[in-house]
Amino acid sequence: MEQIQIIDAKHHVGETVKIGAWVANKRSSGKIAFLQLRDGTAYFQGIVVKNEVGDDMFQLAKNLHQETSIWLTGEIREDSRSKFGYEIGIASIEVVGESQDYPITPKEHGTDFLMDHRHLWLRSSRQHAIMQIRNEIIRATYEFFNNNGFTKVDPPILTGSAPEGTTDLFETNYFDQKAYLSQSGQLYMEAAAMAFGKVFSFGPTFRAEKSKTRRHLIEFWMIEPEMAFMHQEQSLEVQEQYVAFLVQNVLDNCDYALDVLERDKELLKKYTQLPFPRITYDDAVELLKKNGFDDIEWGDDFGSPHETFIANSFEKPVFILNYPKAIKPFYMKPHPTREDVVICADMIAPEGYGEIIGGSERATDYEFLLEQIRAQGLDENEYSWYLDLRKYGSVPHSGFGLGLERTVTWLSGIEHVREAIPFPRLLNRIYP
Ligand code: 4AD
Ligand code: MG
Repeated sequence: MEQIQIIDAKHHVGETVKIGAWVANKRSSGKIAFLQLRDGTAYFQGIVVKNEVGDDMFQLAKNLHQETSIWLTGEIREDSRSKFGYEIGIASIEVVGESQDYPITPKEHGTDFLMDHRHLWLRSSRQHAIMQIRNEIIRATYEFFNNNGFTKVDPPILTGSAPEGTTDLFETNYFDQKAYLSQSGQLYMEAAAMAFGKVFSFGPTFRAEKSKTRRHLIEFWMIEPEMAFMHQEQSLEVQEQYVAFLVQNVLDNCDYALDVLERDKELLKKYTQLPFPRITYDDAVELLKKNGFDDIEWGDDFGSPHETFIANSFEKPVFILNYPKAIKPFYMKPHPTREDVVICADMIAPEGYGEIIGGSERATDYEFLLEQIRAQGLDENEYSWYLDLRKYGSVPHSGFGLGLERTVTWLSGIEHVREAIPFPRLLNRIYP
C-alpha cells in the first residue's frame, strides 16, 4: 500500500492508501465519525463508518483526542462539498502518539495565550496558510533573482559595523572584542556587488528597537539585492518588477492559503500592474499638509498614519523618493543639486501595511563617506574595508532591502507582523 501526503490525494482517487496524520478535530454520531485530519501538507476529512470498520475500530475513532497522531488506511474519494475536494473513507486507524488536553481548542483564545503556545499554534490552519505564503515568497525570491543574473552572497551575522545607526544595535562579546548582530548585510553586499555585479542576500537581521507596533520585530528576515553600474531609477524598476512577481506567484501558487485567510484576490491582482507610482518626499509632505496633517513638517520622518494616508492616495504600492539627508543613513548618495535630500526611496505597501522596502543609490566618493562616518560618531577603523570599495574602481551602485515579514503580512492580509514569522522575537517576548 502506498504511503501518501494529503496534498497529493487528488492523484490517488479510488486507491487505498496509507497516511500519517494528526486529528485536528472530530465530530461523531452513533454510527459515523468525521475526523478532520492534517499532515502538514493540507487538511481533509476522514470518515469512519461503524458498519464498515466494526465496533472496536469505531470506538477507537470516537475516542481520539485532538492532536493525537495516527496511521490510517483507507480509500481516497472525491468530496465536492469541501473546498479541498477530496476525503478518505477510513478502513483502519493505529494510534502513534496520544494527546491529552491539547491547550488550543476550537474556541477563541487571546493573543498572549496563543503566543505562549506558538510551538503548537503553528499547527492551526490559519498559521499554516500564512507560513505557506511566506514559503512561496522565499521560493519566488530565489527564482526572480536567479533568473535575472543575480548571485546569492551571504553576508555575516556577527559584525563590527552599524549601517543603520547605532541606537538599535544588539551588542555581544566576540571573545575579547565587541561585536553586533547584523542590522543589515548591505555594506558587505556592496563589497559583493563589486566582485559579482548583481547580488542578493537573504538572512536574519536584528534591531534592538523599543518599538511595540504591529510592524516591528526584533529579529526579522531581509532580502538585500545590490547592483553595480546601476543608478537609482533602474533599481526602482527592479524593485517594482520583483514585488509584482512576488504578488503574481502568491496568486498562482497559494490559492488555497489565500482562501483560508479570506484574502481579496482581485485587490492583489492590481498590485501586479506596473509601473508603481512615485512621489517625492517633498510632495508627500505637501499632500499630507493639504489634507489636515498639522503634525508634519518638512524634515520629519513619516509615522504610520502618514504612510497609510499616502498609500491610500494610490491603488498600488508607492515609492516615496528622496528623503531628507538628516533622517537617512550615512551611505546614501547626496542629491546632485540639493544638499538637503539624498537619492533614496521607500516602497510603501497599500492598505496601511507601511514600508516594505528601503533602498538607495550609494555614495561613491571616498572623502564624502569618510566625513559621514565621522559625523555619525562611527569608528572609522571599523569601516576602512568599506572605504576601500571607493578606492579601487568605485562605480555607481544601488540596492535595497525588502522586509520579508512585512511582505508576508501584507500579502496574507493579516493584522500583525508577529504571525508572519514562525517564532517571533518581540519587545517582551523570546518564548517559545
Ligand atoms: O529600511 P531599512 O532599515 O533598510 C536597510 O536596512 C537597508 N540597509 C537595506 C538596503 O538598502 N540594503 O530596512 C529595510 C526593510 C524595511 O523596509 C522593512 O520592510 C524591514 O526591512 N524592516 C523591518 N521589518 C520588521 N521589523 C523591523 N523592526 C524592521 N525594520 C526594517
Ligand atoms: Mg527604512
